[in-house]
Amino acid sequence: MNAIIDCEHEYGAHNYDPLPVVLTRGEGVYVWDDAGNRYIDMMSAYSAVSHGHCHPKLVNALIEQAKKLVIVSRSFYTDTLGLFLKTICEHTRQDCALPMNTGVEAVETALKAARKWAYTIKGVPQDKAEIIACKGNFHGRTISVLGMSTEPQYRNGFGPFPAGFKIIPYGDAAQLESAITPNTAAFIVEPIQGENGIIVPPAGYLKACADICQKNNVLLICDEIQTGLGRTGKFLACDHEGIAPDGLILGKALGGGLLPVSLFLARKDVMDVFTPGDHGSTFGGNELAAVVGLAAVNVLIEENLTARAAESGADLLQKLKQLKSPIIADIRGKGLLIGIEINPRYYSARALCLKLLKKGILSKETHGTVIRLAPPLMISSEQINTVVSAISQVLTEAEQEMQGTVNKA
Ligand SMILES: Cc1ncc(COP(=O)(O)O)c(C=O)c1O
Repeated sequence: MNAIIDCEHEYGAHNYDPLPVVLTRGEGVYVWDDAGNRYIDMMSAYSAVSHGHCHPKLVNALIEQAKKLVIVSRSFYTDTLGLFLKTICEHTRQDCALPMNTGVEAVETALKAARKWAYTIKGVPQDKAEIIACKGNFHGRTISVLGMSTEPQYRNGFGPFPAGFKIIPYGDAAQLESAITPNTAAFIVEPIQGENGIIVPPAGYLKACADICQKNNVLLICDEIQTGLGRTGKFLACDHEGIAPDGLILGKALGGGLLPVSLFLARKDVMDVFTPGDHGSTFGGNELAAVVGLAAVNVLIEENLTARAAESGADLLQKLKQLKSPIIADIRGKGLLIGIEINPRYYSARALCLKLLKKGILSKETHGTVIRLAPPLMISSEQINTVVSAISQVLTEAEQEMQGTVNKA
């Protein structure tokens, strides 16, 4: 029994099922609970805390700006938004950016841009625009974005959903080619499907999709809300295949682990479909978010976090692959976005996460059977060793519990 957990449980909606730990403080890779126990955070708030908890430079930027000016709305200019947008456009090879707050708002923005581009530039007949998305996608939870979802739990009870989406299997570029019609506005895709269980498509997939989209005058929109900003060992996951999509969506780590900051970025001719009054957000692009977002991008570069993610990710993946256990069905990922697929016949991913919690490691199952490992990007090799050793111990304990029901490979 814990009064804090009981209070949240009684007064909060039950749309999450948190692990039973009350966190009160964070610093870098670590968080502490209300009893003072320390944990290595292998979740990073679903990749929102890539810079580590309460990064001093980012906290300082937030505090100093909060003392000066926070929000005046986009009805007026403020002094950092332009520089923030210029900086991120330069790093992502995009021409323009439109600021929002949460990831799903930036996804909605991308869908609106694609549809208006289809009607005004491509010449698709009114209300006929189609957007192609992938089976197993996760682009957020609004009703229109759930129109693209193939996950029954996300959709059941929330219909009807808007029309205009077509679903194809993930990872197979030929399927994209055959799904395209003259009315196709865009193909929206995650370079790695995060929420679907860290699903990495075959090498060359994104490049092939980019070529198909270009050939057919279809916009390629990459949702890099989870994979972007260094997470996979490149600034963007698209950079692994050297492509610059026509539209790009960023969020999560863009707020430096402090604020919701998201962007839809695109080529100029795509972004130019928006005219004053077409689209907006009261908080999107506020001065505090611009200052924190700019500082978040600068810290990422100054501290070489992308290269560190590449190096530490390879180290973690290689060490995990050495763990031999029948409980592990697969280990996959890129950079510091790694999934351990648990064989549900032998053990539950959530039960393993609960065991890891007791050993001071925060992680959470995704898609039922996958333990997601996505720590802050500056995790050290010593911390990685601690995590791998805890996972190894937890697997041994689980195997011992199963005694006899599992034959060790
Ligand atoms: C790829 C992707 N797109 C969109 C979203 C939605 O972002 P938000 O929860 O900030 O709305 C997420 C969140 O997990 C995501 O991983």
